[in-house]
Amino acid sequence: MFDTMTSTKIVAALCGALLFFLLGKWVAESIYHVESKNPGVVELAALEEVEESVEDEASPVDIKELLASADVTKGQRVFTKCQACHKLEDGQNTVGPHLFNIIDRPIGDVSDYKYSSAMADFEGSWTVDELSQYLINPKKYLPGTKMVFAGLKKDMDRANLIAYLIEATQ
Ligand code: HEC
Repeated sequence: MFDTMTSTKIVAALCGALLFFLLGKWVAESIYHVESKNPGVVELAALEEVEESVEDEASPVDIKELLASADVTKGQRVFTKCQACHKLEDGQNTVGPHLFNIIDRPIGDVSDYKYSSAMADFEGSWTVDELSQYLINPKKYLPGTKMVFAGLKKDMDRANLIAYLIEATQ
C-alpha cells in the first residue's frame, strides 16, 4: 500500500503540523502574557472613566454649604475665564450678556442681548444652585446654548466664583 516515500511524507507532514501547533501556542502565550502583564493599568483606566462620568453627572454637592468656606479672591481669579465674554457692569454686553446682578436674575433676561433660543426658552432664575449646575458643563446642562465654555468641574472653583459674583455684583 504505502511505499516508504509516502510514509516519510506523512510523517514529515505530521511533524510539520505539530511544530506549527507548538509555535502557535507559544505565540498565543506570549501575546497573552503581554496582555496580562498590566491588568492593573486596564482596571485603573476603567475606574477613571467611571469617575469622570460621575463627575459629569449632576453634582451632589451642596454648593451653598461650600459658599461658607469660599474664597472671593480665588473666585476673582476663576472669573478671568469668563472675562473673555462677560462683563459685570450693568448693560455691558460683549460676546455674552452682562452679568450684573446675575444671582437670582431671570434666565435670558437681558433685553438687548440676542440669546440662543435654547437659553431664551429656558425657564427659571440663576439661583446659586442653578448657576452652579449650569457651570459644571454648560452644553450638557443647557443643550443648544451658544456659550462655548468647557465648564468648571471643581466644586470649589464654582463656589469661589459664585462667592465673587455675589460680592462683586451687588
Ligand atoms: C467664549 C465665551 C464665553 C465664556 C468664556 C463664558 N461665557 Fe457665559 N455666556 C456666553 C454666551 C455667548 C452666552 C449666551 C448663551 C446663549 O444665549 O445660549 C452666555 C451666557 C451666560 C449666562 C446666562 C446669562 C443670562 O442672562 O441668562 C451666565 C450666567 C453665564 N454665561 C456665566 C458665565 C460664567 C460664570 C463664565 C465663566 C466661568 C462664563 N459664562 C464663560 C459666552 C461665554
